[in-house]
Amino acid sequence: MDNIHPIFDRLLQREDREKLLNQKAKVLWLTGLSGSGKSTIAQALERELFNKGFFAQVLDGDNIRSGINSNLGFSIEDRKENIRRIAEIAKLYLNSGIITINSFISPTRDIRTFAKSIVGEDDFIEIYINTPIEICEARDVKGLYRKARNGEIKGFTGIDSPYENPIQPALEIRTENQDVQESVNNILNYILPIIKTN
Ligand code: ADX
Repeated sequence: MDNIHPIFDRLLQREDREKLLNQKAKVLWLTGLSGSGKSTIAQALERELFNKGFFAQVLDGDNIRSGINSNLGFSIEDRKENIRRIAEIAKLYLNSGIITINSFISPTRDIRTFAKSIVGEDDFIEIYINTPIEICEARDVKGLYRKARNGEIKGFTGIDSPYENPIQPALEIRTENQDVQESVNNILNYILPIIKTN
């Protein structure tokens, strides 16, 4: 009896960590074309959440495709494996009580359904960053659309590789009608009641 402390021996749960962090963890899954504004919105959202006292982490191509997924390309199979690993990583964060903001094209319904099945339906919030391809292409921040049109890049999303828009996303952000701050505010209005503890 002496050495038994049932409360302290119990394995730490996600709820314990959420209580410490004073938040409910969720996976915010931003999907949209290359150049749609996902990463910009994700980073601004991360900053706003931080300023409001939430513990959130962006996962995007820069920290995933250059690291753990550096062996993957852009075939549909590789994209699915890319997303599978990201969803598994997001789930680890989730169980640590941390909100992740996932910013990946995740181009097909099948791929996003797969991600949702790994994370769990209740914790997966799909946010469609809807920017018409003409606008993404006109911006061409990374010069990749031009390369895709020239045939220098094969299998580019929206040009010669599919993008299937979400049918019933939790939220749709139409960036042609709003600036980054408005997009972030719209996402915050939706998620704050969900991630707040009281
Ligand atoms: S996903 O399809 O597997 O979800 P992910 O979001 O990780 O894609 O990476 C997309 C980024 O990779 C693009 O924003 C772009 O900078 C770069 N990229 C390089 N080749 C391609 C390609 N063939 N199709 C789309 N994006 C590409």
